[in-house]
Parts: sequence; C-alpha cells; structure tokens
Amino acid sequence: MKHFLTLADFTKEELEEILALSIKVKQETKQRIFKDYLPKQVLGMIFEKSSTRTRVSFETGIYQLGGVGLFLSSSDIQLGRGEPMSDTSRVISRMVDMVMIRTFAHSKLEEFAQYSKVPVINGLTDDFHPVQLMADYMTIIEEGKDKDLVVAYVGDGNNLAHSWLMLASKLGFELRIATPKGYEVKEEILNKALGFAKESGAKIIVNNNPKEAVKNATVVTTDTWVSMGQEDEKEKRVKEFEGYIVDEAMMALAHKDAIFLHCLPAYRGYEVSEAVFEGSQSKVFEEAENRLHAQKGIMVWLNEKRND
Ligand code: CP
Ligand code: NVA
Repeated sequence: MKHFLTLADFTKEELEEILALSIKVKQETKQRIFKDYLPKQVLGMIFEKSSTRTRVSFETGIYQLGGVGLFLSSSDIQLGRGEPMSDTSRVISRMVDMVMIRTFAHSKLEEFAQYSKVPVINGLTDDFHPVQLMADYMTIIEEGKDKDLVVAYVGDGNNLAHSWLMLASKLGFELRIATPKGYEVKEEILNKALGFAKESGAKIIVNNNPKEAVKNATVVTTDTWVSMGQEDEKEKRVKEFEGYIVDEAMMALAHKDAIFLHCLPAYRGYEVSEAVFEGSQSKVFEEAENRLHAQKGIMVWLNEKRND
C-alpha cells in the first residue's frame, strides 16, 4: 500500500504514471464520462486548516469516481478536543477507504499514515503541498511548457517552495527559488532535493535575487507571503518581502512566452500584482481546475496500488 505524503516518496516513472492518469481522467470528465473507478468508496477528509480548492476538488473528485467524501473539520471531530492522531487514524481508517488530511506539522500527517489501514493523502502540511504540484505540472504539460522547462519561484521558502524542490529534483527540470533573507527553504529539504537532482539531472538554484531567478524562466510562480498559521507575522513579513512582488516589470524579465502560476488564494498587491494575475500569461484558473483532475488521478492510482 502506498500513501501520498510527499513527492520524495515517488520515482519519476510513478509521478509520470499519475500525471498520465490525471490527464486521461480529465479527458473523460470533459466528455461527461464518469467511470466508477472507486465504487462505493469513502474518502475521509480531515481539515485542520481552511480550504476552498482542496476540499472541493477531493469531494467532487471522489463523487465522480463512484464514491463519497466525508468532510471532517477538526473543530467538529474529537481530534480538535485532543484525541490523539494515532487513535483518530486507527478509528477512521477502519471505516473509510482512503483519507486526505490537511494539518500543521508534517509529523502529524506521518503519524496518521503510520497507524492507517488505508492510503493517506497529504492535503497540505506546513512543509509540503504535493497534490497542488501535480495540478501545477499538469498545467505545465497542457500549456506545452514541459520541454526546456525553467521554473522561477519567487517568495517564501514555504510548503510550496519545498514541493517545487521535490518535483523538479524528481522530474529533472531547472528550478530557481528566490526568497528574502531569513525566509529560505529548509536546508534539510534542499539537501534532499540536491541528492535527487544528482540522479535526475535537475538544476536547482536557490538565492535571494528574484530578478536573476526570473530571467528567461518559462514558468514564473509564487505563493502567499503569509501562510495559514502565520497570520501574526503579517506586518513583519510584508515589510521583509519588499521587492518580491511578481509584477509586470518582473514578468518582463521572464521568457516572452512564460506563463504565470499561483496555487491560490492570491493576495493582489502583495506577492502578485493585479495586472499579472489577470493578464494573458496567467494560467491560475486552468491550474485551479486541474486540482480536480489531479486529485482524481492520485486517488485512482493509490487504489490500484492498494494491495502492493
Ligand atoms: N491551493 C490550495 O490548496 O487552495 P485551498 O487552500 O483553497 O485548498
Ligand atoms: N503556503 C500556503 C498555501 C495555501 C494553499 C499555506 O500554507 O497557507
């Protein structure tokens, strides 16, 4: 049985298999062909943080695959009152067929997976957001940017930046990450990526120079400067991220056919300007739609591997 906790746990071939499956399922969905890939299966969806895209994509996705999703907000289940993750996992995983969790510390997700009888999917932790990256890469393929791909990530060295590190180092493309000083990616995760890059041939560049990172990039991406749980640091962060907004001047440094991606929600005037967000290079809503298709691909793939 496989879980979907970080992209680090997959080979390049496995990631490509999931992407191909996601694209196939998308084509079927677009024709309103809904095959019962997961008949009568129940997906438990535990949310310790807010969500629009992750909730709607998983809940819609499992329904379209023949199953049903259970939305379990931590404030409504006993987890929110202190029932341990290990107990929650042993109970829920005896009743449902798959679980998706959005939580804070990555170790909480790992603990749940350790005790689970069914596949567990990371719906975002403080360290990683792997399901998002599958949708992002699907969008890159659809936009014809997967050849000679150079991704520039400008902003916070957060869960998204870490997931880009895993994706690039597994698939073997060039990734440049520019963060303000003090907001760099975690060293341990960077070192892991550099290790994978040796095998895949990925080029990973990490610095504090957004303009250099964006130069001739074919994909420019960013994320909020204030992730969930960091609300108290907003004022300080906004000051320290000055110069990291992806605006028209920044986009002009990228390849002329570059696309702009953002996992959303986006905060205009902070990490991205209104003009870039609404501009013709922006593919953020194609990317958001792909969350549905990618989530379906991941669930079908995990189900196929259930007995491995
Ligand atoms: N991008 C993303 O995960 O969005 P939500 O927080 O709305 O799920
Ligand atoms: N980095 C953001 C992503 C939101 C989808 C957060 O963790 O809040």
